[in-house]
Amino acid sequence: MQKEWFSSWFDTPYYHILYKNRDYSEASLFIDNITQFLNLKPNAVCWDLCCGKGRHSIYLNQKGYRVIGTDLSEQSILEANKSANDTLQFYQHDMRKLFRTNYFDAVFNLFTSFGYFERREDDLHVFDAVQKSLMPNGLFVFDYLNAEYVKSILTCHDEKTIDGITFNISKKIENNTVIKTIDFTDKGESFHYEERVKLFDKSYFESLAKECNLTLLHTFGNYQLQEFNNKTSPRLILVLQKK
Ligand SMILES: C[S@@+](CC[C@H](N)C(=O)[O-])C[C@H]1O[C@@H](n2cnc3c(N)ncnc32)[C@H](O)[C@@H]1O
Repeated sequence: MQKEWFSSWFDTPYYHILYKNRDYSEASLFIDNITQFLNLKPNAVCWDLCCGKGRHSIYLNQKGYRVIGTDLSEQSILEANKSANDTLQFYQHDMRKLFRTNYFDAVFNLFTSFGYFERREDDLHVFDAVQKSLMPNGLFVFDYLNAEYVKSILTCHDEKTIDGITFNISKKIENNTVIKTIDFTDKGESFHYEERVKLFDKSYFESLAKECNLTLLHTFGNYQLQEFNNKTSPRLILVLQKK
């Protein structure tokens, strides 16, 4: 059976080379702002759902929270595990599957770690697994792209040379999905990968949340936590609560 694109691309070293600039300062700025807004108790238990190499998990843990980070990518979890300690753990896990029940004070799904699946049913499984994993009144921070904004700024071609590798990137929108193709050559071998992210708007997530008994408390539009504007905000950040 052919692998789903997100289980291969995110697991390659090239993904991490291309997105090197997603650094710890961006992650810490957002975590500082959002944890202040959430007013979590000092030793709150947090789940970084789709943690990648753990940049948000590590910072949340440095702030005193107990953190579990999970991701589908084995390579990312191996890297994240270099920072593990008694209160910071990482596991390989598919976000569509149930992980814990009544366990977390807060769940974070950050930096567009969603919108990859073909079927709405899979999206629903994710929201359901999050809802079940939360303690009553627990909070879910969901940080996604703003579809309207992405459509207005989409550039079709881009070329980036990083660590001696030239990545040729093409982007198009088809069936309400941003399809990014990434072509490059390394050590004489040619590679071709694709990223496919659905251009969901806020109402789509509101419907998933409603079905899973999650209540929308607030919507922000960027990592500085300014109010969401459908046209101009770079991000769509929802704060949801299990009632
Ligand atoms: C855009 S990256 C963001 C990673 C991290 N949150 C960050 O900000 O650095 C998306 C992440 O989602 C993970 N992912 C993709 N599909 C997944 C799935 N079905 N279950 C769990 N993780 C998944 C990828 O491996 C990747 O690490």
